[in-house]
Amino acid sequence: MQTIAPETLSASLYRDPAVFETERRHIFARTWLLFAHECQLPEPGSYLAQTVAGYPLIAVRGEDGQVRAFHNVCRHRAGPLARDGQGKCEHQLVCLYHGWRYALDGRLASARDFGPAAGFDPRDYALVPLKCENWRGFIFVNMDQDAEPFTQVAASLEMRMKHLPIARFTKVRTSTHDMKCNWKTYVENYLEGYHIPVLHPSLSASLARDYGTELDPPAIFYRATPQKGAAVAGLWAWLWPCLGVNVYADGILMERMWPLDYQHTRLDYLYLFAEDASEAEIARQVQQSLVTTAEDIFICEAVQRNLDAGIYDTGRLSPRHESGIAWFQREVARALGN
Ligand code: FES
Ligand SMILES: [Fe+2]
Repeated sequence: MQTIAPETLSASLYRDPAVFETERRHIFARTWLLFAHECQLPEPGSYLAQTVAGYPLIAVRGEDGQVRAFHNVCRHRAGPLARDGQGKCEHQLVCLYHGWRYALDGRLASARDFGPAAGFDPRDYALVPLKCENWRGFIFVNMDQDAEPFTQVAASLEMRMKHLPIARFTKVRTSTHDMKCNWKTYVENYLEGYHIPVLHPSLSASLARDYGTELDPPAIFYRATPQKGAAVAGLWAWLWPCLGVNVYADGILMERMWPLDYQHTRLDYLYLFAEDASEAEIARQVQQSLVTTAEDIFICEAVQRNLDAGIYDTGRLSPRHESGIAWFQREVARALGN
């Protein structure tokens, strides 16, 4: 019996700000998101602020060495504690608006020059915390205090990664690419290898013909035997809702696919290399991944323009190649309450 080819989600879900609002609250505010690598927060007071799906967030290493994460939103009148980026503070996070000071564990230490005020107890105004877990050096955060532990969510990933020598990769590089498409357009492109022989001739030449995907929700794994000497070796995976995980013989690339709004997506790449990797080798590896990225950005922006044009509504998914997309679209539909 032949497998049914599922119908895709409607194009209208890829161009609607109201849909994105629901996705923010029902997907991004409830799932584990890769926020940083611990090397980016080397000492007490080191912080990293980033806006994810419209949520300004900040992670900071405490005096006790522990990394904690919070909404980057002051409890006075919603000022930011830091601009987006990496930095170092002295013992406290200080709001950029009126200077309220927060201890690195989130407690409000002082409401600067607030004056006498009945009914105001600073203990009630700590920063809003996120769940925060360190998994193999990667800092994951979750805005949902009731979320199940990341280690549970990532069990299938852990099982396939445990034999890989990841701890030796500690040199961090980042690169950022903005594109004009809905985040789902890019994620779906990542979830299938059907397009590889057509869109990525040079990547295709480095892979054998046995490309396929394996679902192990909430992760999806890719099978592709590399040709001898190719850069792609190790593990190639994806984790709901928007994280690509590539482990190579000589480094790791974590691809975060973060929505900026309903029609803009940011690829935030976090590369990790061995401490002794030369700058020339790092540049070569980064450059290699950017060739494929540029081809993917080109096609995703073109697809998005076609979704926006209003001619196409739904298509069909190949059971052989696109079962990962079918799973992703079912999860999205569920989050949207459809
Ligand atoms: S908004 Fe932070 S101190 Fe006023
Ligand atoms: Fe691609």
